[in-house]
Amino acid sequence: MSIDFTFGGRLKVPLIVSPMFLVSNPPLALACCSRGVMGSFPAHSTRNRDVFANWLEDMERGLAEMEAPAPFAVNLVVHPTNERYPGDLELCIQHRVPVILTSKGAPDDVFKRIHDYGGVAFHDIASARHAEKAAEAGADALIAVCAGAGGHTGTINPFALLNEVRQVTDKPIILAGGMSTGQDILAAQAMGASACYFGTRFIATRECLSDDATRDMMVAATAKDIFFSAALDGAPANWLRPSLIQEGLDPDEIAAYTPGQRVQNQAARARYSKIKSAGQGVGMIESVESAADLCDRIIDEYNRSKRAFANNLLRTTA
Ligand SMILES: Cc1cc2nc3c(=O)[nH]c(=O)nc-3n(C[C@H](O)[C@H](O)[C@H](O)COP(=O)(O)O)c2cc1C
Repeated sequence: MSIDFTFGGRLKVPLIVSPMFLVSNPPLALACCSRGVMGSFPAHSTRNRDVFANWLEDMERGLAEMEAPAPFAVNLVVHPTNERYPGDLELCIQHRVPVILTSKGAPDDVFKRIHDYGGVAFHDIASARHAEKAAEAGADALIAVCAGAGGHTGTINPFALLNEVRQVTDKPIILAGGMSTGQDILAAQAMGASACYFGTRFIATRECLSDDATRDMMVAATAKDIFFSAALDGAPANWLRPSLIQEGLDPDEIAAYTPGQRVQNQAARARYSKIKSAGQGVGMIESVESAADLCDRIIDEYNRSKRAFANNLLRTTA
């Protein structure tokens, strides 16, 4: 299946505001969809299936009030260890969620079941091997999570990862990690990506679930405040250093851990509610603003960058 990344002209820019645990919610996703950007949230941010059903209904009601909104997406952890996965998938099928963002594993029939109701599935990958497996299983596009991304991150440079993925599959690629501006989207397209995934850039928006202290911490932070470690929850992730220190953890001590060693104390157990994750693009968050305004600005930057780039090419090519 080939994917039209304008989704019938409803995306004004090839951008997905990516799912962020305990950050993304229907108000954030709706604000993005209203401006022509794909919004999303993780199913596992909801306490239980009833709340997840409510969120899907909120999306349907909100989108019905808009003229030609962008489609939305839901993130499902499609791993056998996620007990909620089969029921959450059923609910997505019932609600015919247009785009499913699958992560962590790929059971054989998940992509077929999504295709059967007319949905499309984009799968998270962080290596060429992951890409190969997801492509074989039937994912429609691959989300290449590169070094510097917020949340559970990849570790490979974007140029290196895209080039390696291209050696194993020609599936469309959605680039993720460290991007913040319309110009970044154009750059990703020049590298051969079909679309981009921005998470961190939207953590401090008014609509999302972040609290004011987190928003302020994000505004103050720069790339130097991002701490990479697998010792917090077992998977390589990028964390906001000031939030670790605030919870009594010493990043320098954790950095000296041996591979496989995990933070064991009380503060670590509260990790996702108190310790904050963000990617290296955090330095581009300069204020708390509405997601709708942010989307408008990114679309404007993208269009201006395209014109400037085209003019520049005309001047510099024979
Ligand atoms: C606070 C936070 C929570 C995240 N939670 C999830 C999640 O639940 N599911 C998921 O697929 N990705 C999650 N991610 C990763 C993002 O979807 C995306 O890959 C990443 O934000 C892209 O990199 P960027 O933050 O540099 O833009 C999370 C990222 C952040 C910053």
